[in-house]
Amino acid sequence: MMASAPHGGPRAPRIDGERLWRRHLELARHGALSAGGVDRPAFSAIDAQARRQLVDWGRAIGLVPSMDAIGNLFLRRTGRRPELPAVATGSHLDTQPTGGKFDGAYGVLAGLEALASLHEAGLQTERDLLLVVWANEEGSHFAPTTMGSAVFSGQLPLAEALAAQAPDGGRLEDALPAFLAAHPEVPRQDTAPPLHAFLEAHIEQGPVLEAAGLPLGIVTGIQGLRWLEVDVRGQEAHAGTTPGSVRRDALRQAVQMARALFAHFDALGDSVRFTLGRWRVEPGSPNTVPGRVRFTIDLRHPREAALADGEEAIRQLCETHAGPCTVAVERLSGSAPIVFPEGIRDLLDQCADLWAFPRMALVSGATHDAKLLHGVTTTGMLFVPCEKGISHNQLENATPEHLAAGTQVLAEALLRLADA
Ligand code: GLV
Ligand code: MN
Ligand code: MN
Repeated sequence: MMASAPHGGPRAPRIDGERLWRRHLELARHGALSAGGVDRPAFSAIDAQARRQLVDWGRAIGLVPSMDAIGNLFLRRTGRRPELPAVATGSHLDTQPTGGKFDGAYGVLAGLEALASLHEAGLQTERDLLLVVWANEEGSHFAPTTMGSAVFSGQLPLAEALAAQAPDGGRLEDALPAFLAAHPEVPRQDTAPPLHAFLEAHIEQGPVLEAAGLPLGIVTGIQGLRWLEVDVRGQEAHAGTTPGSVRRDALRQAVQMARALFAHFDALGDSVRFTLGRWRVEPGSPNTVPGRVRFTIDLRHPREAALADGEEAIRQLCETHAGPCTVAVERLSGSAPIVFPEGIRDLLDQCADLWAFPRMALVSGATHDAKLLHGVTTTGMLFVPCEKGISHNQLENATPEHLAAGTQVLAEALLRLADA
């Protein structure tokens, strides 16, 4: 157990839920889309703009910024004993191409609001508090997902991250220098700051809390994830003259693979999550038989053994349906399921109790930076509901009351960890 069990009522000051809500709307202007969502690609000029806004808000309450080599941004609030490992919180500011206002932004703004409430109450903690914006959580342009926290935690070598290539062929090592240079006022910090604990608040991104009518979830763990890419190669040919019997049509075979894969995973039921999210068809011309098709697979399950079986089934089914084409299945990235430590789950639960918020325990279906931090420090997560469970969608929504409830519990838990 990291902090003594809460007793004697709440210690954290009341957070300002109205300011928290307003800041979500202000931040969402950076990359705003017409249907209410946000497109803020990791390492883009828009991503840098959003961070500058955050740095300004942080500076106004005395937070000191720094940034590491992969673009993780740290905003530090100094405690009485800065020589001790800090207590960190945060999430990410990059979004999906058609993302919402809350995925990632909530964890960052909840952390900022928690620190603002301590600042306004004039409360100094023993340990430093660190608000972190992890770089490139979404991984939708430069894979893998949770890139910044993976580099920070030593689970992805920096050189490997820099070699990441976007679907348009652009390399991260070419894009990153301009992004880092867009923050001239933020000093570089190339050694990872030692951490005592990390807490991440996030919208649930699924339907469980809303269906249960609860404002809060204590996350027990995060399911495992595999990203694969299937590469089918055939032969380009004239669409009008080439008879079907002699074609080596990469799309035809890829579609057969997809049908077989959906049938396989559908039969396994709801505990497995299987998605074919990106298709690239070459040459992409209406009157040329496709010579090459690549499609991605996102496979998730709470048990590692089920992921291993799933990956094996994918390889076999793709071979079986390759026909006159060749196929290669490459693993792009993966992470095992994790379970958060009981001590931190208990602390979050007790803090929720102090503020009288009903809650439940639940597993996270989405991946989060907290999964990577779990490898290096005591880590926990809090969820708040989102409307109809919708996320990775411009319509993503949450209520100011639920966002405030999660932030209040976060502030209470951070305070207790930072004084432990
Ligand atoms: C993160 O956005 C994920 O894909 O779970
Ligand atoms: Mn997220
Ligand atoms: Mn996301």
